[in-house]
Formats: sequence, structure tokens, C-alpha cells
Amino acid sequence: MTKYRVLITAGPTQEAIDPVRYISNRSSGKMGYALAEVIQKAGHEVVLVSGPTCLPVPEDVRCRFVKSAEQMLDAVMHEVETVDVFISVAAVSDYRPKELLAQKHKKSGDSWTLELVKNPDILATVAALDNKPFCVGFAAETENIVEHGREKLIRKNIDMIAVNDVAAGDIGFDHQYNSLFVLGADMEVRIDRALKVEVAQQLWGLIYEQSTN
Ligand code: CTP
Repeated sequence: MTKYRVLITAGPTQEAIDPVRYISNRSSGKMGYALAEVIQKAGHEVVLVSGPTCLPVPEDVRCRFVKSAEQMLDAVMHEVETVDVFISVAAVSDYRPKELLAQKHKKSGDSWTLELVKNPDILATVAALDNKPFCVGFAAETENIVEHGREKLIRKNIDMIAVNDVAAGDIGFDHQYNSLFVLGADMEVRIDRALKVEVAQQLWGLIYEQSTN
């Protein structure tokens, strides 16, 4: 077995509005942490870059905690140079407030309009590096799962994508279970509904196989 150095992002990001408020999402971090545990136990070195979660860091996994997408990008760029595989599981907030208010916003009037600006795409940034690692993305889709997944695989110039069918009920975001369509240039594999740790084992098997090809 070749021992890999694997970098994983996990969890949500928090985009601050003012000292007491932020924009975030319902990602629990379970899928990314499950992958970190499975890959570490398989004998590889794992670095986790995690947004805020309630999960314990798996044993012998080095974790850098971040809050915002910009902090996550910064931590990833510091770690990525010597990495063989990058797995981008984090539910990165696509937008952040244009302005970070120094003081708590006080209520006034009946509405409040926030202007948002686009965050950097961490996965696409890593995939554009000259010496890019084997890049794996995640996507949440509600329809035309395979077509949308394939389009993202090509657009982000990545090697593999794991697509959640979020319309399928109790899987994916904030759940114990997951099921995935895993797509690569010449592959399409379905991982049936199972506990996230079991899904992580199967997914890591595919990533390892494809990245050593
Ligand atoms: N991603 C990232 N940085 C971002 C946004 C997404 O690294 N700013 C990564 C995620 O970790 C995931 C993949 O890109 O691996 C998701 O891609 P994205 O195009 O954001 O997918 P969706 O969230 O499903 O977005 P869309 O609304 O465009 O379908």
C-alpha cells in the first residue's frame, strides 16, 4: 500500500454579519469526519480543515479549525503543497456579507437588506494548481443527479465527484445516513444508503483505486 497524505475539508462555514450574527448552513460535518477516521485507520496521514461542528476530532487526525470560507481557503493553501489527495466535503458558504459590521446591528424599520458577495471556490482553486493533488468534490443535487454531477466534475476540473441526492429523504445534510453517486472521467458507481462511516469506507476504496491508476 502507498501511504498517502490526505487533506479533507468538513462542516459548514460561518460568514459573519456583525459580532453576534452569521450566515451558515445545516452541514453537521459527519461525512467529512467519517472519511477522516476511515482514511486514518487505513494507515494514511490525514489533515482535517474543519468549520464549526460539534464532533470530536478522530484520533491521530490533525485538525485546523476555521470559521469562514476565506479562513478555510487560507488553511487549505497552507497544507495542500505536499498532499496526494484533496477531498472537499465542506459545505462552503457560496456568499458572505459584503461588509462585516464592527458593532451589533440594532433593529430599526421593518426590513434589513444584506448585500452578499461571492466567496472563493476552494476546490476549484486547488484543482487549478500546477501540481494539483487528486481532487474529489461533493455536490448536493435534487434532480438530474448524474448530469449535474458530471457538469461540475468538468467545470471544476476535478478527478471525482460524490453526489448526494438530497431529495431522497433522510440522507446527506445533517443525517446519520448517506447514499452517493460517485462519478469520475470513466466511472459511475452508486453507493447504497448506509451509515456515513460505511459510505466513507466504500468511497475511500474508490478514491484509492482511481488515484493509483
Ligand atoms: N466548494 C468549495 N468552495 C466553495 C463552494 C464549494 O470548495 N466556495 C466545494 C464543496 O466543498 C464541494 C463542491 O465544491 O466539494 C460543491 O460545489 P458547488 O458548485 O458549490 O455545489 P453546490 O453547493 O451543489 O452548488 P450549486 O448551487 O452551484 O449547484
